[in-house]
Amino acid sequence: MEGKKTDSNMPPYTESFWRDTVQIPSFSRLDRDLEVDVGIIGGGITGIISAYLLAKEGYAVTLLEAGSLLNGTTGHTTAKVTAQHGLIYHELIERFNPTTASAYYQFNLAAMEWIKQIIEQKQIVCDFSEEDAYLFTNSEGGVNSLIEEKNAYKQLGIDHDYIEEVPIDIPVEAALRMNKQYQFHPLKFLTRLLEDMESLGVQIYENTMAIGVEDPQNPVIQTKEGHQVLCQKVVEASHFPFTDARGGFSTRLYPERSYVTAVRTKQPYPGGMYASVDTPMRSIRAVPYQDETLWLIGGESHKTGKGGETEAHYKALIDYAREHFSAEEVSYRWSSQDLTTLDKLPYIGPLSDRQSNILVATGFRKWGMTLAAGAAKLITDIISGKKNRFQKIFAPNRFHPKAHLKAFAKFNADSAKELVKGKMEGSSNTIENIPPSQAGIVRVEGQRTGVYREENGTLHLIDTTCTHMGCEVNWNQAEKTWDCPCHGSRFSATGEVLEGPAKMPLKQKDNR
Ligand code: FES
Repeated sequence: MEGKKTDSNMPPYTESFWRDTVQIPSFSRLDRDLEVDVGIIGGGITGIISAYLLAKEGYAVTLLEAGSLLNGTTGHTTAKVTAQHGLIYHELIERFNPTTASAYYQFNLAAMEWIKQIIEQKQIVCDFSEEDAYLFTNSEGGVNSLIEEKNAYKQLGIDHDYIEEVPIDIPVEAALRMNKQYQFHPLKFLTRLLEDMESLGVQIYENTMAIGVEDPQNPVIQTKEGHQVLCQKVVEASHFPFTDARGGFSTRLYPERSYVTAVRTKQPYPGGMYASVDTPMRSIRAVPYQDETLWLIGGESHKTGKGGETEAHYKALIDYAREHFSAEEVSYRWSSQDLTTLDKLPYIGPLSDRQSNILVATGFRKWGMTLAAGAAKLITDIISGKKNRFQKIFAPNRFHPKAHLKAFAKFNADSAKELVKGKMEGSSNTIENIPPSQAGIVRVEGQRTGVYREENGTLHLIDTTCTHMGCEVNWNQAEKTWDCPCHGSRFSATGEVLEGPAKMPLKQKDNR
């Protein structure tokens, strides 16, 4: 193992295991206008599989990525390919009905089998393996929830076992096993699809930020550099759909961050993928690396911008790995951001009946590997005019009073509270107190100001007002980013947009 990555405490910087163990091809920036059948925005798993499937159907496709391919949530996942998505099936039966819950399961099963089939057909070497998936608990409340979930599995005909012990050495009161699920190395899988996409004629551009889509009837994607892509259809696979004014997604999606560490231990890994239903949640799986096995320990999720000291989340995971698995070294650590919808079902399909040429796919909670593959297939069917029985269930413009109203009111009250709280917040910090490579909030001439001090002492002062809808961003020391608690926009230490819905950088103040 490379020396620079192993540390008995914690690697000094965050880096995804997936991204560090694969060669990702790079592509140039779009430097002219284009005309294609389908323009896809977002170079993660949804965008890539959609582009691949649509190109196979004979469409002329272009894929635009604002930064680098596979550098968003897809590059920072735990990469479980499973239909076991935490506690979900009992909730879907309660919120909707057994038919909807069953459809969600079938949708995921079909996606899993598609991934398996492609890997086998193309003989893709991507550490693909079959594993059982376990939900486990060590609390009384958790046992009750697991029993409800087990009953839902039974009602829906999901292959399962309710057990009191798991193969891995952790204290457990009860566990629910979903048999024969999968895991893989997502970037090894997707880089192979990228190769095939190029052979199919897909035009791929990186560092090409789409900033708007004009004319929903005959869509034209506008890029930041002033180029236009004329399309019959647009697929927004950019996590937060940026044609937000039309979709109202700011009021219907909330962002969460979660953390992963890759650790080494002398203990042999007993197999399986695990997720606790307790708080704080813990996720466990293993990944082969050279002639060793790394254990991936995840969890600690929180609403974006509201996690407090972000370094503390990594420390909690490492403490857990040491306590239960005698972890000796921490090789990697990284975090990711996921979006959840009001009713926990993703939004996949046309924005609305009147804007049927713009399609979105988002809101996968933390289960984007399987849901993205299903979404790409659904989007391809919709664009090709094929019937797909899942279209109605995931329609972005659906509205179910029972499932939506309460969650809508709570989420938007929280956002409004956050907006006001950020504006009122005081700070006794001073610029002099900010150490190198860190940032803080100070009052400069009475205004809330974000101050980042580079290692060499250079100071960067930014206006902490988020350029999306005006909430106040907070500093994330682990990732060295400014994160917005309202809808999850993220900005670099110097204010550049890393993740939307914001499209404009944070306003600079005088740098020193
Ligand atoms: Fe919406 Fe910041 S992301 S206000």
